[in-house]
Amino acid sequence: MSLTVSVVIPTYKEVLNIPLISKAVNDAIGHLSYELIFVDDNSADGSIEAVEKLSHQWPVRIVVRTEERGLSTAVMRGIYEAKGEHVVVMDADLSHPASAINNMLGLLQSGKSDFVVGSRYVEGGSFDEDWGFFRLLNSKAATWLAMPLCHIKDPMSGFFAFKRSNMPAEHLLSPLGYKIGLEILVKGRFSAPAEVPIHFVDRQHGESKLDFKEQVRYLRHLRRLYRFRFPTASEFLQFGLVGATGFLVDSLFYWMMQALFGLPHTVARAISFWPAVTWNWFWNRTLTFSDRAKTNKLSQWASFVGTSLYGFVINVGSYKLLTDYVPYFMEHKYMALMAGVLMGMGFNFMAARIFVFRKLDEEVAQETEKKH
Ligand code: GDD
Ligand code: MN
Repeated sequence: MSLTVSVVIPTYKEVLNIPLISKAVNDAIGHLSYELIFVDDNSADGSIEAVEKLSHQWPVRIVVRTEERGLSTAVMRGIYEAKGEHVVVMDADLSHPASAINNMLGLLQSGKSDFVVGSRYVEGGSFDEDWGFFRLLNSKAATWLAMPLCHIKDPMSGFFAFKRSNMPAEHLLSPLGYKIGLEILVKGRFSAPAEVPIHFVDRQHGESKLDFKEQVRYLRHLRRLYRFRFPTASEFLQFGLVGATGFLVDSLFYWMMQALFGLPHTVARAISFWPAVTWNWFWNRTLTFSDRAKTNKLSQWASFVGTSLYGFVINVGSYKLLTDYVPYFMEHKYMALMAGVLMGMGFNFMAARIFVFRKLDEEVAQETEKKH
């Protein structure tokens, strides 16, 4: 008989919770053919023995990792070990009520949804009252930052279920930190995510591993997800941010050359261009186009300068044309300035992403493959 569901539970030092969560899962879905896989990162607290004991009674097993650590990769490992048609991922600490699993599976089986989340933030969902102000603010801010990536209210949840055949290919996943549910949801391009309300209970035994370092990691993870979901828009945004800081560098040098070295303003203008353009090149190489080929610095810098000069000509040229020939802009010169800046920047951006910061050879190969 084929397995209906695989429950995957990452654990790190959860020996006291293992029997409790195993019972809760069995109480909820004991009537189905299921397996429960713990993925433990070498807790060495008796977890292995605890699972061994329970395995006489219930279909539970434990995978122990010694080489790697981390919640996300542990969950991925468990999913790759799983044999069931559906996968449910949840925490060991009883924060996630196993009683919701049947609801979640129901939505998957009926075809109403292809990714179901146990949610604190939909109607009927809740969490223990004693969350401090900062924990709440933190959680809310983290949730809010992820909103454009997906259309659910609790994308932070570590309690989710989906059909195993919808698991995104391994090479697509590059989870960083804690939010493996969000990672799978975004990379898997699920079309009908849904939420079932849960009451999230604070843990009784052991302690949470969510610290400040995890939160910084979350921000880096978000950046990756945005780049995956909105590749061009996130490049453009980063390019714009770099450009804005470059403008500050430009202004600073322009002012210094005159105030400190007494140079004439036109000379100052001609000089300040160079640190600014170098600054922009550097940050676009390290930030905006960090995933592009790391080509020779000097020649890349030179071609960046080249396209920036063209961009500058387009910027000033369109200002001149607009203010000379278009009545509206004759009246509104500042609008012409902005239009010029936008056109110059648009040109620079296109030139940068096509000519200056070239794609990796593999990427080009992959794209041509897709076309055939
Ligand atoms: N294998 C393994 N390796 N498991 C881990 C690791 C690790 O490095 N770190 C944590 N875990 C396990 C814990 O043992 C627990 O079963 C589960 O992952 C969640 O860890 P907690 O430390 O209890 O996390 P939390 O309560 O702070 O966070 C939970 O709630 C968040 C929403 O508020 C998690 O469900 C998060 O995914 C969720 O975003
Ligand atoms: Mn927890």
